[in-house]
Amino acid sequence: MKKIVLLTLSTLALLANPYESNQEEMDSVIKTGQEVSTTLLKTLGKNLKKEMKAGGPIAAASFCTTKAYDLTESVDKKYGKEISVKRISLKERNPVNKAVGDELIILDAMDKMQKSGVVLPEYFVERVNKETYKYYRPLSINKQVCLKCHGNVQNNPKLSNYLNKTYPHDKATGYEFGDLRGAVVVTIKK
Ligand code: HEC
Repeated sequence: MKKIVLLTLSTLALLANPYESNQEEMDSVIKTGQEVSTTLLKTLGKNLKKEMKAGGPIAAASFCTTKAYDLTESVDKKYGKEISVKRISLKERNPVNKAVGDELIILDAMDKMQKSGVVLPEYFVERVNKETYKYYRPLSINKQVCLKCHGNVQNNPKLSNYLNKTYPHDKATGYEFGDLRGAVVVTIKK
């Protein structure tokens, strides 16, 4: 009798969690996600700072236009083909960064949580299938400088002109300090 009960419980556990993962694998996913997302953010942040200092918001924005994607790709390449990294947003500036599919659902949930006063954790992990994980690192407007190009950009007509011309469907303005801007997604295949 006991045996039957045990069997049923373990079967239920398996059904509830089709991709049971061990702690070791989860730890390694988190470690990789942290490392790759930090490398990307540092790379972008360092360059943005340098360009802002050298030429102000318009030069820095045009730098982002030509280089943000390339820099992201270079970090992506550095970690090999089992790992990829990108930025996503619900209100994207560059259409290539639009959140879609499962990423849209997860980012939208984060946005709702943040708007309800939840202090978001450093990361979320999605188990996509047996081999694939996605590590999400929420990105918020956490520096005043972000608002120069993602806040009320009308205050700077030249910048606003540049953005309108370069991104006719720009949705990434009107943010306030503390808003969720998007996420870094690191996809990890085991
Ligand atoms: C000098 C202007 C400028 C500043 C300052 C700036 N950004 Fe951006 N941001 C841009 C541009 C331009 C793009 C589009 C880049 C592209 O075309 O790939 C962008 C894209 C992004 C994206 C990718 C999603 C999308 O909308 O395409 C995120 C996320 C983002 N910025 C977050 C931030 C955060 C957080 C800060 C503050 C640390 C910040 N940005 C500061 C100009 C700026």
